[in-house]
Amino acid sequence: MQDRFYPDVIHYHDRTKHHYHRYARSAGRMDWKNQPVPFRFYEDTVREPLPFLQTDPAATHEELYRRSNRSPAPFTRQNIAGLLELSLGLSAWKSLGSSRWSLRMNPSSGNLHPTEAHLVVPATESLQSGLYHYNSLLHTLERRALVSPQLWEKIESHFGTGGFLIGLSSIFWRESWKYGERAFRYCNHDAGHALAGLSLAAGLWGWRFRCLNALSDSEIEIILGFDRTKWNRLEAEHPDLIGFVGSQHATDISRAVPERVLQAFGNMSIDGRPNRLSREPVDWKIIYDTAEATRKPHTEEQRYSYGRQPFTGQPESALAAPAVIRRRRSATAFDPDAEIDAGGFQAMLDKTLPRDGCPPFDAQVGEPFLHLLIFVHRVKGLEQGLYFLLRSPDKMQAVRDAFRSDFLWKPVSTALPLYLLQTGDLRYESTQVSCHQEIAGESAFSLGMIAEFDAAVRLAAYRYRQLFWEAGMIGHVLYLEAEAQGFRGTGIGCYFDDPVHSLIGVADHSWQSLYHFTVGRPVEDPRLTTLPAYHHLKDQRQSGKQQAQRTTL
Ligand SMILES: Cc1cc2nc3c(=O)[nH]c(=O)nc-3n(C[C@H](O)[C@H](O)[C@H](O)COP(=O)(O)O)c2cc1C
Repeated sequence: MQDRFYPDVIHYHDRTKHHYHRYARSAGRMDWKNQPVPFRFYEDTVREPLPFLQTDPAATHEELYRRSNRSPAPFTRQNIAGLLELSLGLSAWKSLGSSRWSLRMNPSSGNLHPTEAHLVVPATESLQSGLYHYNSLLHTLERRALVSPQLWEKIESHFGTGGFLIGLSSIFWRESWKYGERAFRYCNHDAGHALAGLSLAAGLWGWRFRCLNALSDSEIEIILGFDRTKWNRLEAEHPDLIGFVGSQHATDISRAVPERVLQAFGNMSIDGRPNRLSREPVDWKIIYDTAEATRKPHTEEQRYSYGRQPFTGQPESALAAPAVIRRRRSATAFDPDAEIDAGGFQAMLDKTLPRDGCPPFDAQVGEPFLHLLIFVHRVKGLEQGLYFLLRSPDKMQAVRDAFRSDFLWKPVSTALPLYLLQTGDLRYESTQVSCHQEIAGESAFSLGMIAEFDAAVRLAAYRYRQLFWEAGMIGHVLYLEAEAQGFRGTGIGCYFDDPVHSLIGVADHSWQSLYHFTVGRPVEDPRLTTLPAYHHLKDQRQSGKQQAQRTTL
């Protein structure tokens, strides 16, 4: 039966398409006076500064995706801090003239970072069991509620093993300030990147992030205390998802939270006032309407099976896993002559395939709906042209039926479901469809993530958000894989939707492009100065001035 909100999803999606003759609605200028504060603070809370990693966990690049047999690390303040540092912490500061801005381990459209993280952690040697918000600027937990030992016991007995919860949420205004109506898409891409970052980094401690895929948005709001938070107008956090982080060896972890535990969360009193982000947030109404239309109801717990196909052989990276994570950046320009070799190219694509027991997709948000339409520009050993990576093999017939009938569908390798559709130099076309951005044509390859859209959202409108999460997760893997091989990637949220669909011969909503990505040899901008991620805390931590940080307008 069609979801009653399906027409709302289609309305939003079509209205926020960029066209050659018209971009999706936005303010059309940067209202600098109204620029949102890029960090969320909860005022009047107990702040728990987190330690920084003295030594990164020892793990090879491959172990990001292939779980080693390592025993799970204990759930200490130190280890939880390490996970946060390597997934959502700052990665550097950049400066140019008098401007200075921070970057994070997770990328974000326009570097606006609408994604927030909240944790429910057990008591550790120096932390009380509670609900905390992670403040990445200060690398600090802000305590929103204490969780009683009795409640924690119930949580642990429900999951049958030790661990903790991490929830993600989005502040739409952070993103709509710059991107207007299309921002809802970007917030969800960003949530997907954050989720992948958490899922991949958790493996380095022998943990696994499992999405509690039964939870409704209302249940998430109860657990994270959002229903008892007094939000400033248009600055509320919208619930995305909650994951349980536990031992990677634990089996049969529940993907739900029992009613009695929910009730206990609902009875907790919540501390902290969210900081005000802007003087006058603008009401991009369609975003809030679409968020409402795509709210997730409670659903049956799901276990997804993605198969166990072996990884293709891959070039060893000289970089260890944490080094790859720390180096991740977006390229702003590429060397237009640089090539990547076919083996490296295929190894990158291979990591985007979901596999049982392999991060990040074993977080199990849902079934895979996205595939990759690849513009190969400079891959040594491969003809220039248009290629397709089929991420779930059973979709072959559906894609072939929907796409242009003159595509070749010629298999490229026995190890990977990669097909040549047509040969030719598509550097111009790929640049054009990615909002004329040169990074799409001057790279070694760029791509569009094509979703089996109608099949996903017609029956369940909430899946609209999950499609963008999946896109963000794929993008995150590509970012890391590019770094691991000495290349660099960039997520591309600005593209012309329907011209991409015309390229593949699709004129309806059966298949839609939801995110673009590009990979090549980066050209650095020599004007930028780089500063260490947490240099700003060094003095504060020493003099205990952390509480005095300017947190609001
Ligand atoms: C969803 C998403 C969309 C993006 N779209 C573009 C884009 O269209 N063009 C571009 O140059 N960069 C794009 N970026 C890259 C961001 O600008 C970049 O992540 C941000 O500036 C932070 O820098 P970093 O990735 O180096 O940490 C995008 C990133 C994300 C996550």
